[in-house]
Amino acid sequence: MTAPADTWGIHEAQFWLRGRQPEQPVRFDPALGMWNVYGYPEALEVLGDPATFSSHTARLLPDMDSFTEGNLLQLDPPQHTKLRKLVSHAFSRRTVADLEPRIAALTRELLDAVDGRDRMELVTDLAYPLPVIVIAELLGVPAADRHLFRKWVDAMMESSQQFSLTEPGEEQQRAVENSLEQNRHLTDYLRAHVEERRLRPREDLITKLVEAEVDGERLSTEEVVNFADVLLIAGHITTTMLLGNTLLCLDAHPEALARVRADRSALPAAIEESLRFLSPFAVLARVTDREVELGGERVPADQMLMVWIAAANRDPRQFTAPDVFDPARDPNPHLAFGRGIHFCIGAPLARLEGRVALDILLDRFPHLRTDPEDRPEFVPSPNMTGVRRLPLLLTPAG
Ligand code: HEM
Repeated sequence: MTAPADTWGIHEAQFWLRGRQPEQPVRFDPALGMWNVYGYPEALEVLGDPATFSSHTARLLPDMDSFTEGNLLQLDPPQHTKLRKLVSHAFSRRTVADLEPRIAALTRELLDAVDGRDRMELVTDLAYPLPVIVIAELLGVPAADRHLFRKWVDAMMESSQQFSLTEPGEEQQRAVENSLEQNRHLTDYLRAHVEERRLRPREDLITKLVEAEVDGERLSTEEVVNFADVLLIAGHITTTMLLGNTLLCLDAHPEALARVRADRSALPAAIEESLRFLSPFAVLARVTDREVELGGERVPADQMLMVWIAAANRDPRQFTAPDVFDPARDPNPHLAFGRGIHFCIGAPLARLEGRVALDILLDRFPHLRTDPEDRPEFVPSPNMTGVRRLPLLLTPAG
C-alpha cells in the first residue's frame, strides 16, 4: 500500500505513507516557522505534558482566537478539566453503547437505498451520512440539514493547508479568511439552536450544555456554540474517513478481508490497525510555554509544534514492520485518537460506528470490492488522511 499513496492523490507532504522515514524525529521548518514532531516517543512526550506544550495554539494565530472560548481542543487545565468533565458522561462507553440499535437501524436504512444496484460510492451512500446523522441527533439539530454542514465543512477542509508563521502570504490569508467564514456559517446556525434551547429545553445534548453548571456557573452562549461546533465537525469527518480507510485497507489485503468476513470478532482489531496505518487526523498542534529539549533539539518558548501522529504511528522504534498492514497487531498503541488529557472524547462512538456499520455492510454485500476502473480519492489536505470518494462494486467478479 506504499505506492498507491501517489495513485490516490494522498497529499505529497505525507512522506511516511511513501515508505520514507523522517531524517530526525524533531525538526524545525524555517520556511513555515514551526517545529515538526514525527517520532513516537517524542509525540508521547508532547501530548503527556500540557503544562509545557499548550493546546492554546490560537494565541499564535490571532485570527483564530475567536473560537477558543468553550473549544475543548484549545483549552488547557484548569478550564479544560472542568469542561471535559461536563461532557464526558454524554460520550462514555456505557452511554454510547445505548446508541448501537440506532446506528444499526440507520446503516440498514442507508444500505436499503443501495439494494439492487451493482455499485455504490461508500462515502456518499454510507460513510458520510451515518456519523453526521448520529452526531446531529445527539446534539439535537435536524439531520436533514446535513447538506449544509457538508457544504461548510468541505469548504473549510479545502482551505486547510500548511500554514507559515514566517511568511503568511496573500494566499494563506485568503484560506484562513475562507475557513473562518465557513465556520461562521456553522456557528451562526448552531447559535440559533442554542438560543432556542434556552427558551424551550429538549432532551438533547445542546440543552444539557445550556443547563450544565461548572463550579456553580453556566456556560455562555458562545461557549456552548463553540463546543457544539467542535462536536459536530470532529464527530463526523473523521469517522467518515475511518469507515472508508478501513474498507480500503481490507480490500487491499484479501486474506485479511476473508478472515474478518469469516470471524467478525476480528473486525475491531482491523479497525484499530487501519487507524494506525491511515490515521484520519494526521497532525495535532501545540505551543511551547517554556524552552524545552525535545528529541535532542532545544525548542524555545512560544514555538508552534506540529505533532504528526500519523508519522509517529509508522515509527519503527515503536511498531515492528510499520509499513505492513497487520490487522492482528497486538498490542497496537497507535496515537490516532491522541493521548493524554485531550484523548478523543468520541473514540468509543467512532469505534462503535465503525464496527456496527462495517459488520452490516459485509453481511449485506458478499462480493463487495473496489472498482479497478474508478479509483478512490483522498481528502486533498496535508493534515488529514482519509478517503473522500470510494467507488465499490457489489456484484460477483468476472
Ligand atoms: C475516527 C474518528 C476520530 C478520530 C481519528 C479522532 C481523533 C481525535 C484526536 C487525535 C483528538 C486529540 C486532539 C488533541 O490532542 O489536540 C481528538 C479529540 C477530540 N475528539 Fe475526536 N476523533 C474521532 C472521532 C470523534 C467523534 C465521533 C467525536 C464526537 C462525537 C469526537 C470529538 C472529539 C472532541 C470533542 C475532542 C477534544 C477532546 C479534548 O480536547 O479534550 N471525535 N479526536
